[in-house]
Amino acid sequence: MQTTRRDFLRLTSLGLILPLSSQVYCSESKNEWKFGIIPDTQWGTNMKAPFHGTALHIIDAINSEMIRQKVDLVIQVGDLVEHSSAIAFETRAARNQSILDAGIKYYPLRGNHDSFDLESVAQFKAAFPNLPGTKGNEGNSPKLRNADGMTYSFTHKNGKFILLDTFPLVNDGTKNGKAYSIGNYQSWINSQLSKSDHQFSIVFAHKDLLGQNHKDNVFSDDEKNQNSHPEIQNNFFSSLQENNVKYFICGHDHMYHRSRIKSPNGKAELEQIICGSAAHKFYLPQPPFLERETSILKELNRIGFMIASVNNERIKLTYYSAPSFGKIPASPKWEIRDLCGYKFQNMQILQ
Ligand SMILES: [Fe+2]
Repeated sequence: MQTTRRDFLRLTSLGLILPLSSQVYCSESKNEWKFGIIPDTQWGTNMKAPFHGTALHIIDAINSEMIRQKVDLVIQVGDLVEHSSAIAFETRAARNQSILDAGIKYYPLRGNHDSFDLESVAQFKAAFPNLPGTKGNEGNSPKLRNADGMTYSFTHKNGKFILLDTFPLVNDGTKNGKAYSIGNYQSWINSQLSKSDHQFSIVFAHKDLLGQNHKDNVFSDDEKNQNSHPEIQNNFFSSLQENNVKYFICGHDHMYHRSRIKSPNGKAELEQIICGSAAHKFYLPQPPFLERETSILKELNRIGFMIASVNNERIKLTYYSAPSFGKIPASPKWEIRDLCGYKFQNMQILQ
């Protein structure tokens, strides 16, 4: 899986300029390890067995690549299934057997499609038992009712991973139930990031800081105001920046988009990666686009995933994609379409 000269010419002809020199990427280290990131697998065009609203053939193809590349673990950023139900989650979970057999751990988050009702909390926990933060298991969850194993952090080697569930978790007597906000999680996020148990940390959620298509975001369902709850947004951006979190990685938009985003008050900045689509469902960018976001690289209408390669000095992230498929099994030729990364010592980006 190397980028050939032909691939490179194609990438550059599409305006996809790789920001990294090959020099950094040629260096390998004995301490090198990898993890994978899989975006939304919800797939609405086949809700019946065997699919149950999840993109089985695409999951298989991506899992094969995760095994081939010997990742230690895979994180999914939500929207595992089209419509939450016990059978849908069981179907998605069963598709992980190949990676589990290869010793690869799987860490999911819920998305909006995974949380159509409060039943989804128990259904999700049943299909994905022993997640971090649950009793007797690794990791940590906020001390908030029902948040265990839904919002959680864990460490692996020199990395720390924080996954935020912003969908209803608690039956408070209202029709939809209560979701915890980023503000509810902020003190726990600070406590996790301030621990000296990691060399780098990445924060994941399903919804975006700013979406290209979706205008609801991780802070609010208000599609008319992407700057809502400005204090919560400012605190979140500052917390991550002060704790040297460079990347916020999310889904929801079914496209690949890497950008730099400033907090509403302009005092902090994060790099956001909307990590693609693992279903043949795609959205297109729709205005408005806020001035506090600067696009770096965007790719539409292809199926993709990410693999991060880490050693004691740096992390590098690679985005792979292929033309759309999914209705029948396929063995796609994955192409490298984006590369990014940084050195831990000085946060200097790799180039
Ligand atoms: Fe989705």
